[in-house]
Amino acid sequence: MTRHVICKVSEIPPGEKKVVDIDGRSIGVYNVNGNFCAILNRCPHQGGPLCLGRTAGFLRTDRPGGVYEYTRKGEIVRCPWHGWEFDVQTGQSWVSPDNVRVRSYEAGVTAPDAVDAEVDPQTGYVKGPFRAETYPVYVKQLDVVVELP
Ligand code: FES
Repeated sequence: MTRHVICKVSEIPPGEKKVVDIDGRSIGVYNVNGNFCAILNRCPHQGGPLCLGRTAGFLRTDRPGGVYEYTRKGEIVRCPWHGWEFDVQTGQSWVSPDNVRVRSYEAGVTAPDAVDAEVDPQTGYVKGPFRAETYPVYVKQLDVVVELP
């Protein structure tokens, strides 16, 4: 385990990020409401520059035309290549089933049983198949420190 001082705490205000290069690895360090986290700047889908994507949250409503609630602001990064969304704190990908459209075909074969998907009870988002690499981050005095294996 190696420790790397990235910057001063004041250089990454809440809601902001800094992409740094550590030992040949590009890593995004995020300040989420005062908590720092780090994620590899490489999307596990096809290798896109994940941390260059827009940081946002989840939109949720209980019905079409209803009032939208914006949750988890600043916790979700959207990969700029194909739009997969990742939790910057855990690296887990999440999918909004209502926003995913695929072409459907009639088929004469019975589909296999549906797999129980893990659903976030607050947002209705479904856990996706990818998990980006994350690293421990802590603050020592006024420095932001990232630990690498
Ligand atoms: S490379 Fe990131 S979503 Fe495809």
